[in-house]
Amino acid sequence: MSEAIDSQGVHQHALRFFEEKVTFLFHITDWCNLNCQHCFINAHHTPVHQFTVEEVSSIIRDMKKLKTTRIAFSGGEPTLHPDLPGILEVAVEEGFAPDFVSNGTLITEELAEKVQNLVRCVLISVDGPEEYHDSFRGMRGAFKKAMEGIKALKKMDVPFALQFTVTKESFPYVDWIAQKASDMGAESLKLEPLFAGGRAREIASSCLSEKEIDELAEITTKLYGKYLATTSVYMGINSKKVLTEHPCNAYACFGSKCHRHAENDPREIIILPDGNMVPVDSCLHPRLYMGNVKETSLMDVVQAYFDSPQQNAFLALCKKVFDQQVVSYPYEAIPWSQMLAAASWEEEYAQ
Ligand SMILES: C[S@@+](CC[C@H](N)C(=O)[O-])C[C@H]1O[C@@H](n2cnc3c(N)ncnc32)[C@H](O)[C@@H]1O
Repeated sequence: MSEAIDSQGVHQHALRFFEEKVTFLFHITDWCNLNCQHCFINAHHTPVHQFTVEEVSSIIRDMKKLKTTRIAFSGGEPTLHPDLPGILEVAVEEGFAPDFVSNGTLITEELAEKVQNLVRCVLISVDGPEEYHDSFRGMRGAFKKAMEGIKALKKMDVPFALQFTVTKESFPYVDWIAQKASDMGAESLKLEPLFAGGRAREIASSCLSEKEIDELAEITTKLYGKYLATTSVYMGINSKKVLTEHPCNAYACFGSKCHRHAENDPREIIILPDGNMVPVDSCLHPRLYMGNVKETSLMDVVQAYFDSPQQNAFLALCKKVFDQQVVSYPYEAIPWSQMLAAASWEEEYAQ
């Protein structure tokens, strides 16, 4: 690490920063009021792990020192946090335009009014028509309450978007949700294939096959064109062509330096409710965690991460998955981060 001399003439280690812009997904609580079959966070009905506004505040100040462009708060259910507006306010004061992800069931006009000027967009999860949604989310009435939540957001002019988990069972509802998102005035619709993390391991048979994911990507492109004027329909998926032409997108660029002059620094970081920080995918094996922001400051976690065994193991995993799975992948739409997370638990991919 290089050294710098401060104003008192004292030699100090210069802080290292990521070369690339970073986005954070920040799970502020593991408390939830629903019982979703697929919850990768394993959220429950009591807050076992939850961040205080003070903790969030110091983390966000550190995020600002990094090249953070976007923060989305999630959970658990972030609207159960006793001071979600306070947390959003801190983010806004530091210059961010945060989003939050919610099941929508607890969003009242009063809450919508409180967050009105503090949030860029509220992402509401809707996983299918009423009966399917309620059964998937383990609560009768969840769909109706989510619709009321959206109504409250609309009344207060808070921009909202929808997020839809695509399973084998809900695949037939994809056209329905796109039409619904457009009719309701959602800014965007994200179609997210189910991944087998957390509680979803028990419903792994509902995950789409590689072929179905590829089909979904094609359908998404068509829906994107169809609803362009109202709602931007997209899928969080990588393209095989882009990944193989630009391995830096899979953190597998092992030249002297990336053509973009990046050094395989993480660009998406997740903070889990217990404070553990993970690069790229919440479901990566804990041996790849970057550190814990409840134990040390975010800046200290970042400083210790550079060239650490965890970073080296993460990059080795990315390279192996790239060489052994990405290059030979049979379809164009490639769920790369899910492949990475799955491989991180397999012995043959451990160093
Ligand atoms: C973990 S939830 C937390 C926020 C909030 N309680 C909600 O339900 O939207 C955030 C998003 O992740 C999605 N999600 C949870 N588990 C998933 C899984 N195994 N695969 C794909 N998406 C998942 C949810 O459907 C939701 O849209």
